Amino acid sequence: MGDSCILVTGGAGFVGSHSVIELIEAGYSVVVMDNLANASMESIKRVEEITGKSIPSYSVDLLDKPALSDLFNKHKFTSVIHFAGLKAVGESCQLPLLYYKNNVGGTVNLLEVMKEKGVKNLIFSSSATVYGSPQYLPIDEKHPVGGCTNPYGKTKYFIEEILRDLHKAEPDWNIIMLRYFNPVGAHKSGKIGEDPQGIPNNLMPFIAQVAVGKRAELSVYGSDYDTPDGTGVRDYIHVVDLAQGHVAAQKKIEKKCGCKVYNLGTGKGYSVIEMAKAFEEASGKPIPFKKVDRRAGDVASVYGNADLAKEELGWSASRDLKQMCEDTWRWQSSNPNGFRK
Ligand code: WQD
Repeated sequence: MGDSCILVTGGAGFVGSHSVIELIEAGYSVVVMDNLANASMESIKRVEEITGKSIPSYSVDLLDKPALSDLFNKHKFTSVIHFAGLKAVGESCQLPLLYYKNNVGGTVNLLEVMKEKGVKNLIFSSSATVYGSPQYLPIDEKHPVGGCTNPYGKTKYFIEEILRDLHKAEPDWNIIMLRYFNPVGAHKSGKIGEDPQGIPNNLMPFIAQVAVGKRAELSVYGSDYDTPDGTGVRDYIHVVDLAQGHVAAQKKIEKKCGCKVYNLGTGKGYSVIEMAKAFEEASGKPIPFKKVDRRAGDVASVYGNADLAKEELGWSASRDLKQMCEDTWRWQSSNPNGFRK
């Protein structure tokens, strides 16, 4: 990779920190920036332990344009992998301006600084949420986008539109947008993993906290969906598979790929109850649950078609549900309070 240095925004976060490990192990040098709103530098310290490399890391906010520009003066970046952003669906409904300012405004700042510094390779952390309620399954990249109803999902869609317009105006940019399905799991060392603040919104971290005794029982949001057992079905993907998808995207972007979109999913869906049962097997701990009303905004089934990433990136997910649960359990059981001591 020579002197190619990659800036990872949001690199202290769940997907970001796992991607930093895979990039370093693929031979890249990496610089991390994070505003630490929803992460701690402790995760980067552990990434350094895992990789045996020291990682230049900066507490910088995308809204602080001078600090961002200064970062680009300190390092010669060949590309940027952009994870930084707020991602709580419920919170985004309460605080839409915070989400539009941070996620969309912050991204425009980043793009302006990249343009000023002549850095025109960007991998963007997008989300399957841009598809809204599925019109067909599995969802491929041709599926209509923009149907998302919550502000968080709309920020991902708006940023995708900004990137498509930017590429139309300036075709010398190379841009890859990666639409994640449901990231779960943890690095096999158990040293890093998902560490949500407060009560987890997402299923897997909530189940893990029930297993470790931090939560009494799981509330199953809806059991009358048109799915095999009536509970919601999602495409859960191991975060290390997801991270390796970013390495594959980085290799693609080095070949001047233009503007591309890829789903990063497994193509397989599991229900809420299947997830709870799988976690019981992996952890040996009971996951008591009660069936309650549907959660507003949820849909019955979402799972992806990841053939395009396989064809064009030479990437596909390889870790199964058992490994997703075992790796999550190893992280949770050895770090009951996450990165907080
Ligand atoms: C999964 C399933 C719930 C919690 C969201 C975002 C998406 C992405 C991933 C960022 C659903 C059910 C959940 C619980 C439950 N995030 N559930 N009890 O909603 O598919 O996607 O997270 O990019 O953008 O929309 O994930 O983990 O919240 O829910 O029954 O305590 O688990 O109803 O069927 P979701 P989730």
